[in-house]
Amino acid sequence: MKKALITGITGQDGSYLSSFLIGKQYEVHGLLRRSSSFNTGRVDHLYKDTHDPSAKLILHYGDMTDGSSVRKVLQEVQPDEIYNLAAQSHVRVSFELPEYTADVVATGTLRLLEAVQDYANSGRPIRLYQAGSSEMFGSAPPPQSETTPFHPRSPYAVSKVAAHWYCVNYREAYNLFICNGILFNHESPHRGETFVTRKITRALARIKLGLQNHLYLGNMEARRDWGFAGDYIEAMWLMLQSDKADDYVVATGESYSVREFLEEAASQLDVDWEKVVKIDSRYLRPAEVDFLQGDPSKAERELGWKPRVSFRELVAMMVEHDFEQAKQECTLRDAGHSVAVRGAAYA
Ligand code: NAP
Ligand code: GDD
Repeated sequence: MKKALITGITGQDGSYLSSFLIGKQYEVHGLLRRSSSFNTGRVDHLYKDTHDPSAKLILHYGDMTDGSSVRKVLQEVQPDEIYNLAAQSHVRVSFELPEYTADVVATGTLRLLEAVQDYANSGRPIRLYQAGSSEMFGSAPPPQSETTPFHPRSPYAVSKVAAHWYCVNYREAYNLFICNGILFNHESPHRGETFVTRKITRALARIKLGLQNHLYLGNMEARRDWGFAGDYIEAMWLMLQSDKADDYVVATGESYSVREFLEEAASQLDVDWEKVVKIDSRYLRPAEVDFLQGDPSKAERELGWKPRVSFRELVAMMVEHDFEQAKQECTLRDAGHSVAVRGAAYA
């Protein structure tokens, strides 16, 4: 049985990847950061008590800002594959928390690489996937591919570029099997509520059922290449099954504006968005990434990877999920419970 270690296991991608790997008979270990409230909601359905011999998901406390914890978990788990997904992954928030973002995203990756190098030195084979981002392309014109030069536009993106080059450097210097995935935006019903797609589908569903009145957004003209997270995690795995470690763009090749996403979601819910959407400059970024559209031809050619879920199907999946969730909120409200919008902080 293969063992995988996932950092960022409690995030959107971590949850899809865990489920996928368990389906492939892996034993999955995850780095769990300490939180004062439960942060395992996205993987609870996969978790069994560790005393149960059929448990396939094991969580270990650790933090990317604490190198000793990363090293200890790696030594304890002895994985065949590592997926480094942990990040302060919100671009707007990275302008508020630039040092912390760099510590987790850039230096955190370096800490992991140092631990991996020592581990590999003791003769144990290991493969590492690094979660790179299309944000690294920033203002480089589309379509962006593996040969497009990076021009990052936020502390988050600069940190991801540093992590990318640390990985290339450790691959070349120490002959380690490390792949950088350069993933374009990918969404799902597990997407964090402060990313624009989920913010839109949640808010429109709540507005439809009278749970809130308005949706406040920033730049509606930004364009993104949006795919389904469930498709993208398979590309991560395929990279690590390949004969040769390399870097790959993972994208749909199509791009839509925030406005077009909003229009599609509103039309599926039959909501007149022009009456409920307002612009709030707090959601604008000091520097924006205007246009992302990936060229995934290398991943298709070399890994045999292709996205399955279309833009319209992705919106429908998220709308359906959030409409169901809003209906549950209505039930709670009717039973006298509070249903205030969670996550009031701006992003
Ligand atoms: P996400 O939902 O924001 O999840 C991030 C994960 O990192 C969470 O499990 C989080 O833990 C964990 N984390 C944050 N700080 C940490 C720390 N100091 N130590 C240990 N763990 C920490 O992100 P995602 O959408 O799944 O994305 C996964 C990775 O792909 C990220 O690196 C992201 O930057 C990158 N990426 C994402 C996209 C996309 O469109 N989704 C595209 C390209 C690249 P908590 O649950 O406790 O917060
Ligand atoms: N979050 C947010 N909130 N974004 C908004 C809003 C709003 O109210 N209004 C407009 N936007 C615009 C942003 O300015 C941006 O141009 C676009 O919507 C997408 O924003 P996000 O959904 O926050 O995602 P992102 O593209 O900045 O970053 C995501 O994708 C990257 C890959 O390209 C994150 O998942 C990153 O971690 C990931 O690397």
